[in-house]
Amino acid sequence: MYYTTADDRQVLDGTAGLWCVNAGHGRREIATAVHDQLLRLDYASSFQMGHAGAFTLADRLVQLLPGDLNHLFFTNSGSEAVDTALKIAIAYHALRGEPSRQRFVGREQAYHGVNLGGVAVGAFPPIVSFLAASPPESITSAIPTTWPTMPLAKGRPSGAQTSPTSWKRW
Ligand SMILES: Cc1ncc(COP(=O)(O)O)c(C=O)c1O
Repeated sequence: MYYTTADDRQVLDGTAGLWCVNAGHGRREIATAVHDQLLRLDYASSFQMGHAGAFTLADRLVQLLPGDLNHLFFTNSGSEAVDTALKIAIAYHALRGEPSRQRFVGREQAYHGVNLGGVAVGAFPPIVSFLAASPPESITSAIPTTWPTMPLAKGRPSGAQTSPTSWKRW
């Protein structure tokens, strides 16, 4: 639970590394498990493929989830989780025939991570203040090579490629 400073003082890590080391620092059994896992499978992409460990973990997690929640999407951080959830919500309504349903409700002072989607639905004063002057907009330019183009996803709202999200205006 402690950091050791350069001058050898013990400092209680009251935030657990901002919630990343809730079981404490330097735990031998955790270090051993991580070491063993790195030797067995250090990394496998989940991009258009899968590996057994991810499915095993998903199966265990859905046992803990309430009701009929039985689908999981793994991300690397809270910020990614928030932006992924926003995209899933937009895609869900687009696929059921309501592509214009893209408005989110956020709460004052809310913090939803560092990515643009999370920032757009949050209202955390230090972040909002610099975005207020210029909320993000983007246009899509044609690709400059003969790289094969991907077909538009079924249900994608027309014009979506030039106005990806109706960003909140502060
Ligand atoms: C409600 C909420 N959403 C998103 C995040 C962002 O998580 P991360 O720092 O893992 O990207 C946080 C982190 O504090 C959070 O509290």
